[in-house]
Amino acid sequence: MEVSAALKPTVVVIVGAGGDLTWRKLVPALYDLFSDKWLADRFVVIGVDRKEMRDDGFREHLREGVDQFSRRGRTDEKAWSTFASHLNYLTTDFAIPGGFSSLSDRVREQEKTWGAKPQIVFYLAIPPTMVEVTMQQMGEAQLCQDRDRVHVVVEKPFGRDLISARALNRLLTGTLAESQIYRIDHYLGKETVQNILAFRFANALLEPIWDRRYIDHVQISVMERVGVEHRGAYYEQAGALRDMIQNHLFQILCMIAMEPPVSFQADEIRNKKVDVLHAIRTIHPDLVHEVAVRGQYGPGWIQGEHVPGYRAEPNVALGSSSETYAALKLFVDNWRWQDVPFYVRTGKRLVAKVSEVSIQFRPVPHQPFPVEALGEWQPNRLVIRIQPEEGISIRFQAKQPGLAMRLRPVDMRFSYREAFDGPTPAAYEMLLLDIMRGDATLFMRADQVEAAWSVVSPVLDVWGAVAPMDFPNYQAGTWGPEAAEVLIARDGRSWLQPAISEDEEEKESSE
Ligand code: BG6
Repeated sequence: MEVSAALKPTVVVIVGAGGDLTWRKLVPALYDLFSDKWLADRFVVIGVDRKEMRDDGFREHLREGVDQFSRRGRTDEKAWSTFASHLNYLTTDFAIPGGFSSLSDRVREQEKTWGAKPQIVFYLAIPPTMVEVTMQQMGEAQLCQDRDRVHVVVEKPFGRDLISARALNRLLTGTLAESQIYRIDHYLGKETVQNILAFRFANALLEPIWDRRYIDHVQISVMERVGVEHRGAYYEQAGALRDMIQNHLFQILCMIAMEPPVSFQADEIRNKKVDVLHAIRTIHPDLVHEVAVRGQYGPGWIQGEHVPGYRAEPNVALGSSSETYAALKLFVDNWRWQDVPFYVRTGKRLVAKVSEVSIQFRPVPHQPFPVEALGEWQPNRLVIRIQPEEGISIRFQAKQPGLAMRLRPVDMRFSYREAFDGPTPAAYEMLLLDIMRGDATLFMRADQVEAAWSVVSPVLDVWGAVAPMDFPNYQAGTWGPEAAEVLIARDGRSWLQPAISEDEEEKESSE
């Protein structure tokens, strides 16, 4: 077990601590970090919310979440009570004037007890509509003035379009320095997403072929089996383009397309990523129908169970136009990627939960083999599997054993699970620890967020102005709408359907 890098005394204030994120992600991640001794001994969580609750009730509620979502499984009494003694709850309405004054008092008490000024992480686990008023109250309570000690974490969605994201950035930077703001995108905390950097830049063999001369196109697919679950109200405002593509899929795209960084300094990596977003070709509104597809699931069957369509989900309008599936074709206009299409797609209620990047290489320039040898021949393909069964595979041609020359594609696979022992930390563990260490590499800078909104703006505008006529246009339990097949087929290509092993199917159905 690794010992914590001398972490400073830390207070983590979770604003909106009664919500799902705290229960499902944040506290299980803190519990795992604590159990692995990554956290300072002088560490407390103060959960803040409107709901009346006492410390005991708060702890009990959080324990259920930890039992379900910690990578350690169910807690034992001793481990839990040690951790739980660091958890506190404060009932307050943080949206009203003076709402944070009891919190200021509580933090001051903590300083006295420790005889030291702690670093303070404010985690805003609140809906985007609450951020403005909360920031105003935090500003008034003078909680954020110490630029070196106070960090503020803002969850996605960061705005709902370019204009609102700019306004939010202005609001935040009115009270905080950019270095204090951690805009979180949990995809950046995933091991396999970070591994894209290791794979690309710690190995010499890829860089020479990582460009338009050798790569035909790139596909990024983030497919989900779940529907909108209990998040209908949020999803009605968001849709797949805002919820997934503008952030998670673009982060992956940046890592695939970025230039090699000079160092691993936060701003160096972020500069290289923002360069990619700036290079994405602007989508002309007249071409949106050619390069963008939206879909919405209707009822269907998933793993033998009948599931309702999106419009029948709780808090969803009967005639809703929100997309639960989105696909885009993008180009990165620079020397490396000119005219190489990047196809990205994501959707809910699809066949399986699987996220992967496929890099499709061009065919060999000259084919010396006789026609009979080529029956199953395919160009090389590199697949980076982000989840589940994290790993990388390379498809290449091999001679099929026998007396004749026949080529057959085979896969060379690297599996995280087989290569490395030990548990993989959850994305939120990585990100929470980085916030406490003051490392912003895996967080989005204001300009990145705005650049990402600029890319999708024309699509949002056109989709917002013209209601879809064909929703629902895919059945739950399929790979999405027919129109997405047409989008890529127009270029003489097709989506590379992820391989789903039976193990994965079983694992997922038991989750
Ligand atoms: C969230 C989206 O950011 O990511 C959800 O709001 C989505 O709609 C989730 O289900 C997917 O994350 P993961 O880690 O399960 O791939």
